[in-house]
Amino acid sequence: MLGCLHCTGGAALLYALYRWVIPAAVQYHGGLALLWHDIIVERMLDTLTQSTRPQRLLGAVQKNATRGDPRSVVKAIDEFCRHKEWAMNVGDEKGCILDSVVSELNPATVLELGTYCGYSTVRIASLLPPHAKLITLEFNPDYAKIACQVIAWAGLEDKIQLVEGSSAEWIPKMKEHFGVKMLDLVFMDHWKDDYLPDTKLLEDCGLLRKGSVLLADNVICPGSPDYLKYVRRSPRYKSQYFRSHLEYTKAEDGLEKSVFLG
Ligand SMILES: C[S@@+](CC[C@H](N)C(=O)[O-])C[C@H]1O[C@@H](n2cnc3c(N)ncnc32)[C@H](O)[C@@H]1O
Repeated sequence: MLGCLHCTGGAALLYALYRWVIPAAVQYHGGLALLWHDIIVERMLDTLTQSTRPQRLLGAVQKNATRGDPRSVVKAIDEFCRHKEWAMNVGDEKGCILDSVVSELNPATVLELGTYCGYSTVRIASLLPPHAKLITLEFNPDYAKIACQVIAWAGLEDKIQLVEGSSAEWIPKMKEHFGVKMLDLVFMDHWKDDYLPDTKLLEDCGLLRKGSVLLADNVICPGSPDYLKYVRRSPRYKSQYFRSHLEYTKAEDGLEKSVFLG
């Protein structure tokens, strides 16, 4: 009887640590939050449930979002990530900054680097004017498959071209393959070491015009210092930082909006 009580008490303590104590302790520290949510918890849940985080996120969309209603898809993902499982979407807080940049620019052609499960893709596409298009690149085929289903659930297939492959491979093919002349907006949210080389690639491929905007996520956490230095010092850009928080935490992160001056 006493042994059983010990067991139950131990399990309750472990659950409380996992569910509340550790998440609360790491939420002000970006590096620890990423280590906890993105490595430890994800691996543990993948093993326990024999599924992947993107599959569980898709399940939450199918259960809680209304087909054909992009905002309900965004809401279902945010609720899943705030209350069940953190995931590396731009998130609700920085998502509002993304929304305001998209609405202000009213872009005809948008490129997104890093689709993951399609959260930001849905946010951007739902705000685009008629006839505008969003091309989104994702090199992980498992993520791309999930994103395809999330986009379909939101009813936005007509506005979005999801391309499987790497930015280095596809940026040089943008003009010939997709008939892109110039990009009005590039949302950079792939691996942070790729921000700078891909910016230079976009310039070299002649995809930026005077007034094109680069909007880069996670410039503080995990951070992209070489990219920030480049856009802030180059006379070819006018750059501005939007302070916010790492998705679904209270640790500082932000978006850098850089207008190409030609
Ligand atoms: C932070 S997640 C993107 C989150 C997404 N933009 C959102 O807010 O919902 C980064 C994604 O970029 C993808 N990725 C990283 N480097 C890439 C590259 N060079 N080309 C294409 N995809 C890349 C990763 O597989 C990952 O799914």
